[in-house]
Amino acid sequence: MEKPRISVIGMGFVGLVTATCLANKGYKVIATTLESELVEKVNKGIAPFYEKDLDELLKSVVSEGNLEASLDNKHAVLNSEISLVSVGTPMLEDRSIDLSYINICSLEIGEGLKEKQEYHLIVDRSTIIPGTTRNMIGKNIEKVSGKKMGKDFGLCMQPEFLREGSAIFDTLHPNRIVIGELDKKSGDVLENLWKEFYSGEDIPLLRMNIESAEMVKYANNCFLATKVGFAMDIARICELMPDMDVKDVMRGVGLDDRISPKFLNAGAGFGGSCFPKDVNAIINFARTRNFKPKILTSVLDVNDFQAKHMVDIAEELAGKLEGRRVTLLGLSFKPNTDDMREAPSIRIVSELLSRGIFDIIGYDPKAKETAKKVFRKRIKYAKSIEEALKDSECVILITEWDEFKTLTPGDFKKHMKIPNVVDGRRIYDYEKFHKEINFRSIGRI
Ligand code: UGA
Repeated sequence: MEKPRISVIGMGFVGLVTATCLANKGYKVIATTLESELVEKVNKGIAPFYEKDLDELLKSVVSEGNLEASLDNKHAVLNSEISLVSVGTPMLEDRSIDLSYINICSLEIGEGLKEKQEYHLIVDRSTIIPGTTRNMIGKNIEKVSGKKMGKDFGLCMQPEFLREGSAIFDTLHPNRIVIGELDKKSGDVLENLWKEFYSGEDIPLLRMNIESAEMVKYANNCFLATKVGFAMDIARICELMPDMDVKDVMRGVGLDDRISPKFLNAGAGFGGSCFPKDVNAIINFARTRNFKPKILTSVLDVNDFQAKHMVDIAEELAGKLEGRRVTLLGLSFKPNTDDMREAPSIRIVSELLSRGIFDIIGYDPKAKETAKKVFRKRIKYAKSIEEALKDSECVILITEWDEFKTLTPGDFKKHMKIPNVVDGRRIYDYEKFHKEINFRSIGRI
């Protein structure tokens, strides 16, 4: 059977990684974006952001002619049988979801379908509040194309579960596929695509209606964020008495296979383009229907408060930090990415500045350039760990990059003016560090 041609609308993490992985398995893919710079880069085989292994894979699929980047959604639709929609759905000022890219691209998909005779399947991969696939994407396409969903074109919602930093691995080895379908034919076409793509692999595949699939994504991210929030709450309790250690507590708890050890690391807080945005969006969705989700609201409170708590710990350890140099190790929202969206470092810098602490120097192995766009001249940027530690009176470790894990108490003593270290990710051996330098960590006093 001939492989269907695919268009991928949106070239962020999800879109570009999906497009590249499909092209690498021999599918003809057209990926689109609104940004001409991005099109130019991708057509030269250059990854526009840092993601493990993406550069290499992209170079090869572009040179083989399997992936074309374009600005033109109509062209993409007319030259494919299936369109995967993965445009951004960022957070608005009021913390609700911004659906404007979904709105625009579905109108453009409609323009393409207007000129097309054959059946076409549209699959939403973006995280969108329940009801949006049917009521915005489906209806916009009907309005512009004059065609009927379920008859002339198919409609599905397939939530995406990939993580930044391991996006290619996650795309090639998903732990499940969830298909929300308008009707059986739409679901069958999508199931066939993935069965062929993952042939030989045993991946659980669930089929359900569109709205439930939209909610699977929110419930999934909300649960993971809740696990992390829960761990931070338990960490605070562990800090109320000497010798209780959240790391050991969560190791014990995680061995219960009803709970699992994953996402139980209490740290400087969760960030990224998904957890804060999605928890906020679904709270907002519920509120507009007169329900206030209490657990999720508390999860956000715990996360927001963690930045203040980190700076409290730093000042308990080092004394008032106003007028003294503070070093931030790690600025990205997690290791192996240069993404700064909703990173805990942003909240920590705001807290430091609000306390009059202006001599801040940050070091991050990959996120220096993105951090400069966020903080501008409000902090200084070091080129190395040594430079970041020089003259410093307090280190706050925010992101657990591998290169920080090998630092010893001696390194901090050697380079810092006074070795005060706050381990916000529990990467250091508590007993060892506590004996040799002024040391505090999340979840243990
Ligand atoms: C998350 C989900 O894990 C993916 O399944 C989902 O597809 C994605 O959102 C999305 O909706 O697109 P991601 O944002 O890449 O992926 O990052 P995670 O690895 O989940 O980490 C999120 C945040 O939680 C990070 O700031 C991380 O430091 C924090 N975290 C995670 C903890 O503080 N403790 C933990 O134990 C785990």
